[in-house]
Amino acid sequence: MSVHIDNTKKVTTQTFRQMKAAGEKISMLTSYDFTLASLVDAAGIDSILVGDSASNVVCGNNYTLPITLDEMIFLTKGVVRASKRALVVMDMPFGSYQISEEDAVRNAVRAMKESGCDAVKIEGGKEWIDTIAHIIKAGIPVMGHLGLTPQSVNQFGGYGLRAKEQAEAQKLIDDALLLEQAGCFSIVLEKIPSQLAEKVALEVEVPIIGIGAGANVDGQVLVLQDMLGLNQGFKPKFLRHFANLAQPVTQAVEDYIEAVKAKTFPNETESY
Ligand code: KIV
Repeated sequence: MSVHIDNTKKVTTQTFRQMKAAGEKISMLTSYDFTLASLVDAAGIDSILVGDSASNVVCGNNYTLPITLDEMIFLTKGVVRASKRALVVMDMPFGSYQISEEDAVRNAVRAMKESGCDAVKIEGGKEWIDTIAHIIKAGIPVMGHLGLTPQSVNQFGGYGLRAKEQAEAQKLIDDALLLEQAGCFSIVLEKIPSQLAEKVALEVEVPIIGIGAGANVDGQVLVLQDMLGLNQGFKPKFLRHFANLAQPVTQAVEDYIEAVKAKTFPNETESY
């Protein structure tokens, strides 16, 4: 089937489906602020995820669990203002959809209304399927997230590869089918064997976005600061550094300090 994707138009959940149908890979990166999101959007990214990884990257926590709904909404507002073309997805943080279906719908409505995002992302499969269906019924597009779901790190006992064993792999396939049936427009698969991710991408019609899930899925997502090489302490196998910005940033700060101490900054042309 030949499908024409207009790369100048705002990306929607419909565009995601069209891209999968056309065999065009979907590019997605996280962003958590206006300045970087403006650059990411202008570079032509298809989708920006305001991930709850902001808890680690922005706030310095070891886990995603502490970040609150209010904090996620605050960050997402800036990203939405920056995004002219990209589809903006906001992560529903831990505790914002687990209490009750009513509470989950209320919080997802808040996410859409207050941040202006285009969709929300929710971790988990069968356990949350009724909740996800209720949110979708309210008119809110939902991206699913299976495999390594960081909000469950305490149940998993770490951030290792998921679905290595047959039983967990089968559950993941079943969960992906359930998420599709519930109406999710796309699903993230994190840190699972490539062959399993490929199988899921073939079995479901909605686009599969991988992170540590190999090349044979419908798109890729990475954490922006990780792929820019700003976070030198984090280098899992699936991560590629597309730049090494920690070094030039450190150098610029050192140069600034030296110029201030040496009284060479500001000079005459930099003064009023
Ligand atoms: O929070 C996040 O950044 C994510 C991606 C790793 C998929 O969920």
